[in-house]
Amino acid sequence: MTKFYVGKPAPPEDLMDRKEEVKYIVTKMKSKGISYNLAILGYRRIGKTSILFKVKEILLNNEEIAVVYFDVKQNMAEPKTFLTRLEKAIFDAYLEKLRFSTKIGTKASKATEFFTKIREALTSKKVKSISADISSNGIILPKIEFEDKVTDYGTLFMSVFKSATAFAEKSNLKFIIILDEFQDLVNLDRYPGLKDIFSLFRSIIQQRGKTVSFIVSGSRVHMLQTILGSGESPLFVHFERYAIQEMDKHNSLEFFNKYLAAKKLKSNNKGAEQAYELVGGQPFYLMAIAEKWNTGDDVNMVFQNLLTDSLGTLKLYAEYILSEDLADATGGPILKTILQALSDNSTGYTVSELAKKMSIALTNLPRYLTPLIDADLVTKINGNYIVRDKMLREYLRVQVEALSS
Ligand SMILES: Nc1ncnc2c1ncn2[C@@H]1O[C@H](COP(=O)(O)OP(=O)(O)O)[C@@H](O)[C@H]1O
Ligand SMILES: [Mg+2]
Repeated sequence: MTKFYVGKPAPPEDLMDRKEEVKYIVTKMKSKGISYNLAILGYRRIGKTSILFKVKEILLNNEEIAVVYFDVKQNMAEPKTFLTRLEKAIFDAYLEKLRFSTKIGTKASKATEFFTKIREALTSKKVKSISADISSNGIILPKIEFEDKVTDYGTLFMSVFKSATAFAEKSNLKFIIILDEFQDLVNLDRYPGLKDIFSLFRSIIQQRGKTVSFIVSGSRVHMLQTILGSGESPLFVHFERYAIQEMDKHNSLEFFNKYLAAKKLKSNNKGAEQAYELVGGQPFYLMAIAEKWNTGDDVNMVFQNLLTDSLGTLKLYAEYILSEDLADATGGPILKTILQALSDNSTGYTVSELAKKMSIALTNLPRYLTPLIDADLVTKINGNYIVRDKMLREYLRVQVEALSS
């Protein structure tokens, strides 16, 4: 039954494990009377979006809940396009609920009815600059009036979220807005009115009443922590944080075996265990190994090939991580050299050990380690700096080994 979705989030019906996480998020979001805001933190490809798709599906069974799922990273564009896409997602979530709650009638008459509802909601809540259009075949789309000259996108940004409040109040709904890869909102801050985008977002949260709740989620864990939590941060206290961790051993083995089953191979607990030893409970990595493994193969060999073959899934992915994360970090090529230097030890190095190993002045190291930590590439455990991701560490180690032989 289970299909392969290497890279794409799992559709709800194929989500494995994660029952606890799904239940926790659903329960929080259903809490009556108060609006809850959750921040879901978890490194890239740990399974956040897959979990959120499941959460969305479950919440939508409730007649009174409208759910907007919006990936900020994927939809990023100049403000005009970005805000129009977000508004469309809000319209669609509302329309979906209206269709759900009304009995099936003739399509056209329903469309007009829904259109009127939307217009009324927007006018009664005085949502500035946002209205709706309906085409002759009944397709309802948002219309945002952008001024010709200098637009204050801040006001429009507020209006878009206010439209969710308007719809919620009009139809006695609760709106849950999921903003995936939330930290990417920062890309809007160079436009007029959006300079302090996270403060703006805070004011939205303070104004939206009890009818709209937010789930923000993101892979840039360190960055998101900073946005949400640092002393002067505007979003502090508004979000409860919830971390998505690696899967435990039991579920990881089951996960691996299910992928074997999907390939019509028999379960292989020994192989599954070996894969878990190599990459931990990281679904994407487990999947990549299971995808390439065949009866009789040595799991470690499969893993090594994935890391070194020119088209190996893990090699390509490691390169992607490095280019994405090092692009934002200031420090230049030395950052990669530091990662490589750290990679041959799974328990890492202290600063002085590292300074010695690399012949760099001790006082210069923090300047390089800080951006690596900010980019989630390095973590500090018990005074030691280590390459956080096990797969990436092995990728770098093998690379160094190949260079020095
Ligand atoms: N619980 C799960 N069941 C099935 N596949 C999963 C699960 N968790 C993650 N995956 C797979 O791992 C990959 C990464 O998952 P995704 O949800 O996109 O992670 P994230 O949003 O944290 O980056 C996808 O290919 C997805 O299909
Ligand atoms: Mg995701």
